[in-house]
Parts: sequence; structure tokens; C-alpha cells
Amino acid sequence: MKIAETVVEMRRLCRDLRSAKGLLALVPTMGALHEGHLSLARRARAECGAVAASIFVNPLQFGPNEDFSKYPRAFADDCARLEAEGVDILFAPGAAEMYPEGAVTKISVDGIGDRLDGASRPGHFTGVATVVAKLFHVTEPDRAYFGQKDAAQLAVLRQMVRDLNFGVEVVACPIVRDADRLALSSRNKYLSASDRQHALALHRALQAMEARLSGGERSSKTLVEEGTEVLRSEAGVRVDYVAAVDAQTLLPVERAEAGTLLAVAAWVGQTRLIDNVVAA
Ligand code: PAF
Repeated sequence: MKIAETVVEMRRLCRDLRSAKGLLALVPTMGALHEGHLSLARRARAECGAVAASIFVNPLQFGPNEDFSKYPRAFADDCARLEAEGVDILFAPGAAEMYPEGAVTKISVDGIGDRLDGASRPGHFTGVATVVAKLFHVTEPDRAYFGQKDAAQLAVLRQMVRDLNFGVEVVACPIVRDADRLALSSRNKYLSASDRQHALALHRALQAMEARLSGGERSSKTLVEEGTEVLRSEAGVRVDYVAAVDAQTLLPVERAEAGTLLAVAAWVGQTRLIDNVVAA
């Protein structure tokens, strides 16, 4: 696996690889890789001739009181794992390479970028859209692979791709869960043993909503109340949002149906976690 630290080198490596091997995949990450990330790399490897990944803890998508400085970093391990998955090129720029002195341009995906996590974390999706747009420009991928766990991020990025005519197909990959059903997240590293038990309430809330839905309940209000109740009754959990929304626009729906995104976000101690399910 070749590692590029500069935009110029990454662009050259990607162009060369794409002309030698055909379809180029990009797997953008912030590192601290877990099985969820590796599943993206694996799928990219299976579907494309060449695979590029990136590791960049993007300061622009963290709010002033968020966990940027303590976000887990595990570069050597991450490299070994990506290499084992057959990734061809890793882009690992420093902050000054991605945001050189004087850079002021940002991409704001209006409306949708302020929904769900965008409402709780003002500016977050502007940071995500800006860095992903830059990664797309640098690597010029045919396909980009993202996890379904960040369902709002996916919707925002798909909107950006449509609006700005990026020639890239956004591929969503299923959520990967631990045996206890907690969705994998780099932030799970922050959880103590008791936090982890509390965190299982997120998946239970979604299961409760799904169970009501498959029992014939269509009212989003009732489903949201159900999920909220499960989260509220778990000590150590503070609800951020429980939502039933259109998966593309992230706007609330009155009646849930197949394809509706049921999403939750909650604080477990100092850690904010998210999870979701798309109604069957
Ligand atoms: O999902 C992530 O890890 C990040 O938001 C992304 C897409 C790599 C942009 O920094």
C-alpha cells in the first residue's frame, strides 16, 4: 500500500492507478478503524479495480466543545489493517495540507445539513461536506463507500453529489454491530463497561420502534414516543433525538412506511452515539 501525504502525490497516484486498473473506489475515514470501516474497504475491493482510502481527523467537522483533540488515533494499526484488506493507496494528509493557510471556502448543504445530527452539531455537516468534496477532487473516485450508521451524513453527501455534479457513485454499506448489538463506532472506545451496558438502549429503542411498526403502527409520533421512552428509562442515557424521517431529505414524516429512516442519537456519559434502521 502506498501512502501519500500531499494532494499532488495522491492525485498522481490515483490517476495512475485508475488508468491501470479501472474503477477507482474511495473509502474516506477518520482512522481508529473498526470492522465497520474494514467492511467498506472489503466491499470496495470486491467491486472495484483499485481502492484508495483516506485517514484524516477533520477539524472542520468538530464543534469547539467536541472531542477533536481526544478523538482516537491509531495510525500504525490502521495502515496494517487497510493493507491487509488490499487497499492500494492511503491518503494521510496533515491539517495544513488539507486546509492551507488562507483557505476559506466551505460547502454548506443548506436545509438538510441542519437536520438530525446537523441540528445537534451546528456546522458539523459543513465540515463533512467540505472535506469530502476535497477528497473527491483529489482522488477523483468512481465510487465512494460510506457506512449506513451515519445515515444523515449519507443523505447530506448524496445531496452534495447531486447539486455539484460530482461524477461519483455514493455506496452505502450496512451497519456492523458487535455481538451485543451495539453499532460499531470509533467512539465506543470512550465507553466504560457500565456506559456500554447503557448504550445498548439505542439499539433497543430502534427495535421497539420497528416492532410497533411491524405490528401495524404507522404514526411517527407514536413510534418516536416509543423509542424515546426506551431511551429515557435507561439510567445514564440522555436523549439527543429520536426521529422518523424521509431517508433522502431527513424531513420528519407523519406516517412511517417501508424506507422510512428511524434514527436515534443519545449521550451516554460524555459520549454521543447514533444508530438507525431503515424500516422494512
Ligand atoms: O464518517 C466519517 O468518518 C467522516 O465524517 C468522513 C466521511 C471521513 C469525513 O471526515
